[in-house]
Amino acid sequence: MTRFSITINGEAHGPVDLRDDLSMNDYLREHLGMTGTKFGCGAGQCLSCAIIVDEPDGTSRTSPTCIVPAVNFDGMAIRTVEGHAKGDELTTLQKAFIEHFAFQCGYCTAGFLNEGQVLLERLERSPVARAELETTIAEALDGHLCRCTGYIKYHEAVRSVILAEPQRYLA
Ligand code: FES
Ligand code: FES
Repeated sequence: MTRFSITINGEAHGPVDLRDDLSMNDYLREHLGMTGTKFGCGAGQCLSCAIIVDEPDGTSRTSPTCIVPAVNFDGMAIRTVEGHAKGDELTTLQKAFIEHFAFQCGYCTAGFLNEGQVLLERLERSPVARAELETTIAEALDGHLCRCTGYIKYHEAVRSVILAEPQRYLA
């Protein structure tokens, strides 16, 4: 058992004693009822379970939750799909996913949304040239599996957000 505390979407949780083998996915879904984070392959291969980790240096990254023990996130600040919208107000990226029909069943969507958000935050810190954008988006979303839509519409949605504010995301 480990004494565990975490900040999720700006809200403090714990301290609580957790089994060391409890996955982060089970902690979120079973202990907290936060079922927006999905469980797909359970083997670190699809990233439907990905959440955002906010690093102390101000950067962000995604992490799978299915194969990572919750206690590995002790003391960290993370964001889940439930943390994007403010009340009924969706983020620009969420709206773009809808406008571009980026998903069908939606099982992979939380992972893509978190990855897209991390990309936007990275581009705000380190803009890329327009000529590098397609590769940048493809590389960022690589590893997220979708069995429904064929990925293109996710790429279109992320691209549309970036191109709508080139001064913010492009060099
Ligand atoms: S469910 Fe975690 S990577 Fe597939
Ligand atoms: S929308 Fe169904 S798996 Fe991606």
